[in-house]
Amino acid sequence: MSTTHLVTGATRGIGLEFARQLSQRGDVVLATARDPKNAGELSGFRLSIGGLDVADPISIEGLTEALSDRPIDVLINNAGVGSPTKSIADCTADELQRVFMINSIAPMLVAKAALPSLRLGKRKIIVNISSQLASITNNTGGSSYAYRASKAALNQLNKSLANELGPEGFTCVVVHPGWVRTDMGGPNAPILPPDSVKMLLKLIDALTPADNGKFFNNDGTILPW
Ligand SMILES: NC(=O)c1ccc[n+]([C@@H]2O[C@H](COP(=O)([O-])OP(=O)(O)OC[C@H]3O[C@@H](n4cnc5c(N)ncnc54)[C@H](OP(=O)(O)O)[C@@H]3O)[C@@H](O)[C@H]2O)c1
Repeated sequence: MSTTHLVTGATRGIGLEFARQLSQRGDVVLATARDPKNAGELSGFRLSIGGLDVADPISIEGLTEALSDRPIDVLINNAGVGSPTKSIADCTADELQRVFMINSIAPMLVAKAALPSLRLGKRKIIVNISSQLASITNNTGGSSYAYRASKAALNQLNKSLANELGPEGFTCVVVHPGWVRTDMGGPNAPILPPDSVKMLLKLIDALTPADNGKFFNNDGTILPW
């Protein structure tokens, strides 16, 4: 039985690969892009593309109307940005706010906007793409101030969402895709997008309500908070 996935940030990297693999296996994909004109690589797949700039709360609010109660089984909050905040000297209010808006706040607003559709879906799954850099336990190297903190905030927000929506049968998780060779991951990353997404889809396909609130590595093991 085919499922319907909503994927944010589908123009490049991991989001594009999600759209490709899901549509190739016959699932329905609602792919979103900040600027659909940049979504050329998506043409030819079995999916529909909508405009969604996750840095703009008004754009996110428009998602509810655009979906108009169309059932969605799985939301993949993938859109994200890196940040050159290597040192405290790089931490400005503008940069921290920019990164928190896209990496932490937007996934919650997208989940809220898509909630009517997710409630009508068969699986009721919300996957927030986090990072192992969010782990406070594993932070022995510092650096990446804004990015680490924004993904740690996403993890905490996901936990609250999981606690609130769990009784309705939702499964809300945060997932590390691995160090992946994309524009963000850079050319030295050891994992190619197709391999990362293959692992992530295996994990997502197998999710059950018992997994609600967990922080997963791409291989299905649990990461420390
Ligand atoms: N690559 C890694 O090693 C790695 C590791 C851990 C976690 N992650 C996470 O995985 C996710 C995908 O990363 P990636 O490596 O595929 O990054 P990427 O190649 O840089 O792609 C980022 C995607 O996010 C979209 N995006 C950025 N700002 C947006 C906005 N305001 N509105 C809508 N879309 C926006 C981009 O769209 P445009 O083309 O319009 O800019 C692009 O499609 C991110 O959440 C990232 O933090 C990646």
